[in-house]
Amino acid sequence: MTRTTTFDVNAIRAHFPALRGGAAHFDGPGGSQTPDTVADAIRHAMLSPLANRGTITRAERNAEEIVGQCRRALGDLLNADPDGVIFGRSMTAVTFDLSRTLSATWRSGDEIVVSRLDHDANVRPWIIAADKAGVVVRWADFDLEAQLSPRTRLVAITAASNLIGTMPDIKAVAAVTHSAGALLYVDGGARAMKDAIAAKITTLPQHLLQSLTWDRGKEIAQHAQLTIDTGLPVYFADPHSPWQRGTNENTNGLLRQYFPKETDLARWNDAEIDAVAMALNNRPRKTLGWRTPAEALNDHLRSVQSAGVATTH
Ligand SMILES: Cc1ncc(COP(=O)(O)O)c(C=O)c1O
Repeated sequence: MTRTTTFDVNAIRAHFPALRGGAAHFDGPGGSQTPDTVADAIRHAMLSPLANRGTITRAERNAEEIVGQCRRALGDLLNADPDGVIFGRSMTAVTFDLSRTLSATWRSGDEIVVSRLDHDANVRPWIIAADKAGVVVRWADFDLEAQLSPRTRLVAITAASNLIGTMPDIKAVAAVTHSAGALLYVDGGARAMKDAIAAKITTLPQHLLQSLTWDRGKEIAQHAQLTIDTGLPVYFADPHSPWQRGTNENTNGLLRQYFPKETDLARWNDAEIDAVAMALNNRPRKTLGWRTPAEALNDHLRSVQSAGVATTH
């Protein structure tokens, strides 16, 4: 039997004291309303002995431990090297810091490229720094390469638009940016697994979005947020019970023909992954009476549509 993940909205809400006033808060970025567990962890850290990082005194070790744990947690979340993780007050503040540092090497007549897809946090700091350094600001619309020149020092772009969900092909952007000899600065604030799923599934008609049955990997650690964002409940099968998610298991087998085990999926861009999905959706399946998944979906949509027409007054 599959079982619903215990996502108890009231229990989660209870961890956000700021929501107790009854007001709806539409300022959504993570961190605007703080869960009590986070506030408690900060309080605990600040009331413990703390010093500069080190290994001799307890205070030094506490600081060392907190920084190390945070880096490891972020490395795990982002599938990145923990040693490459740095912390700042906010994405905007970090971008201002970096823009000041990097622009110290820019010369009058150099160029930078920013995009209209970005949150202002990844635009304004660069424009202010460019103004001070006498650097030309170019705007990338659809054709980034057209904006690059031998004088380009930096390209700033988002990995996912928080407004319209567009996810530029960052690998391709990195390749052209680096071949122009420029640095690439990517805002990853809105890019996470759940966003990728949310963007895909919301292209389906609403009545088909009943639930998502997931394999038991850690990729969907943010399933609770995905449910909040899209209204789509996520089901997890019992451990070691692949028969409870037959289609999922069968599709994994088919996907392995394209992406062998241990393949780093980051090597593939969205268009390539869509092409594999298209091939699989056009492959006849016994469980569908040898129709392809695409045909079965089409038949279903047509039957739902004609049922809808018949009952329309
Ligand atoms: C895509 C994106 N980038 C950057 C920011 C700014 O983040 P911060 O509040 O940490 O400065 C936001 C905030 O909503 C965002 O959505």
